[in-house]
Amino acid sequence: MPRDMSYETTALLDVKEAAARRRSIRDFAPDAIPEGDLDAILDVVRLAPSAFNVQPWRFVVVRDPGLKAGLAEAAFNQRQVRSAPAVLVLYTDMRDALATVEETVHPGMPAEKAAAAAAHVRNLFGRQSPEQQETWAAGQGYIALGYLLLAAEAHGYQTSPMTGFEPARVRTLLGLPEHVQIPALVAIGRGAEEGFAHHRHPLGRIVRAA
Ligand SMILES: Cc1cc2nc3c(=O)[nH]c(=O)nc-3n(C[C@H](O)[C@H](O)[C@H](O)COP(=O)(O)O)c2cc1C
Repeated sequence: MPRDMSYETTALLDVKEAAARRRSIRDFAPDAIPEGDLDAILDVVRLAPSAFNVQPWRFVVVRDPGLKAGLAEAAFNQRQVRSAPAVLVLYTDMRDALATVEETVHPGMPAEKAAAAAAHVRNLFGRQSPEQQETWAAGQGYIALGYLLLAAEAHGYQTSPMTGFEPARVRTLLGLPEHVQIPALVAIGRGAEEGFAHHRHPLGRIVRAA
């Protein structure tokens, strides 16, 4: 059976080029992002892996200038929040993920096995406090963040990931439930500055054989 490649287009950068080009960008052109482009980017992010395939990430796309101003205030007035035509709020919601875990069990599984798999996941996380569950989910959320930054660059858009914000204020502003975690805000648009050249550890500093 051929794989469904319908999300692919020929204009994308490959992973290596996207990673090399991507930089945090804090000044953006005001042009709105066509919804189709944002969907194409998020359609890649959707493919990110997560433990038990739980996929606890959720996204709010903020384009409204009033809401963006509110987000900027919650993010210590970082200029990229005001400057970007859209800000993606990446949050994780284990309460929702566990309540609907059947949705994430592979449809090819026989019904009995699928029910057992769902029960197993609920059981495992049932031993954790809601806080522990959400902290775990936020870790998974950073996998989606990595996909998002690369996918945006590959599609010709620049980003600015942020953890510098007050989560409680963001939750209130967007009407998100109190239990959710917010791993990051991501300003996204067409960059209007170069950003800083990469300054990274060489491989020998971070990798060793054992
Ligand atoms: C999870 C995460 C959170 C970050 N939070 C902020 C932030 O709040 N404000 C900011 O200006 N940059 C933030 N950054 C950007 C980093 O400073 C930047 O990625 C790093 O210095 C490397 O630069 P580069 O992204 O241009 O390659 C964040 C980056 C990541 C991955």
